[in-house]
Amino acid sequence: MGTRFARGLRLAVLAGVALLVVGCATGQLDATKPIGKEAQDIDGLMRLSGWMAVGVGIFVAAAVVVIIVKFRAKPTDDPDDLPPQIHGNRKAEITWTLIPTALLVFLTIITLPTVFALAREGDGRTIKVEGQQWWWQFSYDVNEDGDFDDAADIVTANDLVIPVGEEVNLEIHSNDVIHSFWIPQLNGKRDAVPGRVHHWRISSTEPGIFYGECVEFCGLSHANMQMRAIVLEEADFERWLEGQQAGRAAAAEPLAEDSAEAAGASLFETHCISCHVVDGVYESAAGGNANLLAGIAPNLTNLMSRTAFAGALYETYVQDADREYVRGPDGKLIVNIAGLREWVRNAPDLKPARADNLQGMLDFSEVLTDQDLDNLMAYLRTLGNEPVLPR
Ligand code: CUA
Repeated sequence: MGTRFARGLRLAVLAGVALLVVGCATGQLDATKPIGKEAQDIDGLMRLSGWMAVGVGIFVAAAVVVIIVKFRAKPTDDPDDLPPQIHGNRKAEITWTLIPTALLVFLTIITLPTVFALAREGDGRTIKVEGQQWWWQFSYDVNEDGDFDDAADIVTANDLVIPVGEEVNLEIHSNDVIHSFWIPQLNGKRDAVPGRVHHWRISSTEPGIFYGECVEFCGLSHANMQMRAIVLEEADFERWLEGQQAGRAAAAEPLAEDSAEAAGASLFETHCISCHVVDGVYESAAGGNANLLAGIAPNLTNLMSRTAFAGALYETYVQDADREYVRGPDGKLIVNIAGLREWVRNAPDLKPARADNLQGMLDFSEVLTDQDLDNLMAYLRTLGNEPVLPR
């Protein structure tokens, strides 16, 4: 009785586990297809130790089966008659101590060089990475003076743009709690710890978009603290850098009077600049008005040049079911204006946050009218050009 139910339950659990495992391989985070040199080294070690474990597992399972069959009690056996006992058998004890020791020593020897190689500094540029609740900021030291806060330097969010083949050094900081930086196809994880600077290196052997996530539980929207590496050919990367500078210059240009853009900019000045910066126009608290908190939210100077917003939770541009970008009749990418508008209207509805605790966007649904939102969208669309996408 009940066996049918038990069998059904067991099947359901198995099916659930299978789905879960399949889910791991089909999501955007994919550790099974390493692209960067560092990720490939880690993957090689993982596969080797995995296959060794499979070998040990098969050997143990086979031995158990053989022993069960070979030494099973026969009907003619005297139940009080014990088979020969091997406790204290020196040969057996030494054998089953030495084999696992040899396996572990072997694993240690082949792992150590990779551990040291991963800690090595790369020969490429350094990018500053800052984790905070719940998004990632990336700063580029354009004039290479070792300082990331000059007027010339570029600050962006969500998209970590790097050139293909370059060993990029990351200087990882946290502005609040412990986060962890992970783009599985490019390298392993590295924690972002307040008060500390952690160094890490990533590289990619091919252009593409590689997805990453914060992998240290950091509060309400930990799961929504995503990012992506946009890996570009060298020439495209240079084009991106120039585009960022051009976007900054364009953002400082005056807007046409009485336009929707100008109306949007005026709303931006009322509602947004206490958290968001636009280089050269609405500056951060550090460089300007000390009453402002500006700088705690993404720098929006080149907003439209990013493929994603809201901690890389939403796409800035429309994609089809295969995640291919859709282009309009003019050949340009189509802005996900409905998504961006809804985000500005009521962000906490799309991404759990604690704006009252300086964590995340406020709910503006009772503050901004439909007309206000349209004007704000018109202004935001002036900030930066289309992203440079990998070929
Ligand atoms: Cu940041 Cu989890």
